[in-house]
Amino acid sequence: MSETFYVEKREQLKEKPDFQNLVFGEIFTDYMLSMSYKQGEGWSEPKIIPYGPITLSPSAQGLHYGQTVFEGMKAYKDGDDVALFRPDQNFKRINLSLKRLEMPQIDEEKVLDGLLQLIDLEREWIPSGEGQSLYVRPFVYATEPYLGVRSSTDYEFLVILSPVGAYYGDEQMKPTSIYVEDEFVRAVRGGVGFAKCGGNYAASLIAQTRANELGFDQVLWLDGVEQKYIEEVGSMNIFFVIDGKVVTPELNGSILPGITRKTVLELAQEMGYETEEKRLSIDDIINAHHDGRLTEIFGTGTAAVISPVGFLKYEEAEITINNNEIGPITQALFDEYTAIQTGKKEDKNGWRV
Ligand code: COI
Repeated sequence: MSETFYVEKREQLKEKPDFQNLVFGEIFTDYMLSMSYKQGEGWSEPKIIPYGPITLSPSAQGLHYGQTVFEGMKAYKDGDDVALFRPDQNFKRINLSLKRLEMPQIDEEKVLDGLLQLIDLEREWIPSGEGQSLYVRPFVYATEPYLGVRSSTDYEFLVILSPVGAYYGDEQMKPTSIYVEDEFVRAVRGGVGFAKCGGNYAASLIAQTRANELGFDQVLWLDGVEQKYIEEVGSMNIFFVIDGKVVTPELNGSILPGITRKTVLELAQEMGYETEEKRLSIDDIINAHHDGRLTEIFGTGTAAVISPVGFLKYEEAEITINNNEIGPITQALFDEYTAIQTGKKEDKNGWRV
């Protein structure tokens, strides 16, 4: 760590929750990291302040025109050791998102330094049970009180922390059912699909709700032009095992460049699987299933790490994958990934920070 940032102490610390019953994103720690941007002055130094309500003008641009971006990552406890997993990738990506939304770039090293100091202060909030972690949510929003449609002059950067349980609770990973969305689309090339901005998630809600009403867990998104090519599943990237090969849609501008996606591709290669990033149509997938070549499907994201898919519906076609059971490659990748994240297995690539 290079400099020590200012800490505004809170008068009273909160009571820690029952770490056995954590719901994702519901409880937040005592402190957050904060940094403000003013045109002409640039970003202030990061500081650690008590977690609490923020003051925002009703005319703040971020509330009206959606100039907001965010990130998600996790910190794990391993004895006295605390580690983040590939945080450099998250700060690199937040700058990519900021650039697309015409928001000011942040100093990646400085905010990582600030985050490490925040996490150090909040160590006691990191649950250490199987699959548990501290979810880290950095985000930036436009604060200038002005209703004209142009980039804001002022912004706020915050990082908040939330202890989270294992994604699947006490159970094993569970195969999910997915509904291939054929009306709504998530993103188009040239738009903001590759950026992690709030609007992408707002646009996905209506389809997610409809899929749930129809009895499915998640939506599978097709491309926004021909509605033919596979893009993402829910808020995750998607992978297929076809002819024993680990295949995922290639990044095309409308797909989020997931850090779990990137890591799964790298790990799969290290584990000896062949991998491929390519344009995949929904018909390719249905046909591969009919020919017996499609053996596994799974989603990847920070929250779940890996989420197997057991059933898929597209128009009249309904297919069951691997008997609705977790496939061997899905399980092997999940085990390897989480063992490295939590320090149970040697981190040859230096991903833990
Ligand atoms: C992830 O799991 O990577 C996500 O983006 C989900 C998050 C929006 C809760």
